[in-house]
Amino acid sequence: DPDDARDRDLAGLHVLVTAGGTREPLDPVRYLGNRSSGKQGYALAAVAAQRGAQVTLVSTVSTPAPPGCALVRVETALQLRDAVLAADADVVVMAAAVADFRPEHAATAKIKKTFDPAAPDAVPVVRLVRNPDILAELLTRRGEGTTPVLVGFAAETGDEQGSVLDHARSKLARKPVDLLVANEVGDGVTFGQDDTTVHLLSGDGSSSHDIGPADKTTVAHAVWDAVRAIAPTV
Ligand code: CTP
Ligand code: CA
Repeated sequence: DPDDARDRDLAGLHVLVTAGGTREPLDPVRYLGNRSSGKQGYALAAVAAQRGAQVTLVSTVSTPAPPGCALVRVETALQLRDAVLAADADVVVMAAAVADFRPEHAATAKIKKTFDPAAPDAVPVVRLVRNPDILAELLTRRGEGTTPVLVGFAAETGDEQGSVLDHARSKLARKPVDLLVANEVGDGVTFGQDDTTVHLLSGDGSSSHDIGPADKTTVAHAVWDAVRAIAPTV
């Protein structure tokens, strides 16, 4: 069995995986969200546990935890940040789609269609504020003594400014993680889909390794193989 060689090769590592898209409340019943299904994050957590790691899965979706994974449920980017920063993991994989912005104020009661009786046809204006960049914070903290291996994701569509890989490389320049997993999204590609094509970029941008189209478990194994080559031996 070709899997025997890597059986439990992550034993001794505490890995934290984030999964799903954050939900930023507008009022008690509505939120700003995104199309991330969380499937790649769950596959990463499941495979890490199979390979012997201690796994914390920080998730925005209601899917039960894979066997052997400790689940922390969160909704917002701020909650996800607290959960990530509270853990003392050897490896942090930021597979979650974290909202860049959130509504400045969440209404405490449901916003009504006629929310201003003096102007029955008025529409609400939602002002957004920036969310913290969790991966950037982890990179900053690394200068302060913590040394987790950091894995980022870049879900890109490609545009006039450049291809998926171009955008991934500039993301790596802005946030120099140890490994960047770039994948193409949009037009029904990848989000919620079972097969995906990804590019694994090394931290210094020197190498890029293409995987797929492959299922998310195969992609997860490839990501952990790459992490295994970087992570401190335990
Ligand atoms: N990320 C994060 N905190 C945020 C936004 C993103 O930790 N507030 C992480 C994501 O989990 C992902 C990586 O940063 O691992 C890249 O996210 P992405 O949205 O692709 O990049 P951004 O830096 O937010 O840039 P942009 O959205 O403009 O492409
Ligand atoms: Ca973003």
